[in-house]
Amino acid sequence: MKVICTERSQVLGARLARVLKVPVVNVAFSRFPDGEHYLVAGALDDETVIVGSVVDNDALVQLMLLIDACKPSRIRLVIPYMAYARQDKQFKQGEPLSARVVAKALSQGVSEIFTINIHDPSVLEHFSAPAQNLSLAQDTGAYIKTLGLDNPLILSPDDGALAFAEQVASVGGWEFDHLDKTRLSGVEVRMAPKTVSVASRPVVIVDDIISTGGTIVTAAGMLYQQGATDVYAACVHGVLAGGAYAKLTAAGIRDVICSDTIERACSRISAAERIAGAIRKH
Ligand code: R5P
Repeated sequence: MKVICTERSQVLGARLARVLKVPVVNVAFSRFPDGEHYLVAGALDDETVIVGSVVDNDALVQLMLLIDACKPSRIRLVIPYMAYARQDKQFKQGEPLSARVVAKALSQGVSEIFTINIHDPSVLEHFSAPAQNLSLAQDTGAYIKTLGLDNPLILSPDDGALAFAEQVASVGGWEFDHLDKTRLSGVEVRMAPKTVSVASRPVVIVDDIISTGGTIVTAAGMLYQQGATDVYAACVHGVLAGGAYAKLTAAGIRDVICSDTIERACSRISAAERIAGAIRKH
């Protein structure tokens, strides 16, 4: 077995190879003068684990090319972050089901697929190879433990992410809750934990994705008003679009924590062990 990765998943790919104790395949990535992607993979094995987060359109094309270059090896494809997964329904007429388009494009010639905290598990049905979703909730909880916070509340921004918050909280036996929105007027919305008080305690807001950071910035302001001592933000996928990290810092978020599904300076949690565990079972 060998591990091979796209440019945007080099660190996670190398970490995974180290955990699995297998070599990494060298790949020469380049572009044609018109901008088209091109790559040449080094010597392959009969079994290949491809690691490629779809962080943008270039990463998607590069991953598709890499999959083709790895044939006819038995390919296990790890998609740590999959852009377009949030368009998992045709919300209105005329829209594409983008998650299905990407899932189908990445399934060709692949024997198994692994995703990590995919936005909605229904996306897995669109792959034409067996697909499994892994969760970094325990790993996120383990990292939060190292912060040594006194009696933290683990909070999800909405009830959809409550199960994730519960799994994170179970690591430290902490309280968990989700934010609830109450409309006070046409323009004013109050956000507060559904049942638990934040007064005089630290809060860690946990979510699958931080994209623009807008959800967490709004929540943090209200949590401080309600007496929270410190507000932290932890997510699996740090998309951090449009200056989100600075926006979160300016809003008083003490620390922004994410995993290496998207490789960032604030990637403090690695998905490598979790992926290796799943691959060893298959
Ligand atoms: C939404 O469904 C996701 O779980 C996140 O809550 C969302 O992507 C966060 O977006 P933003 O950081 O732009 O508020």
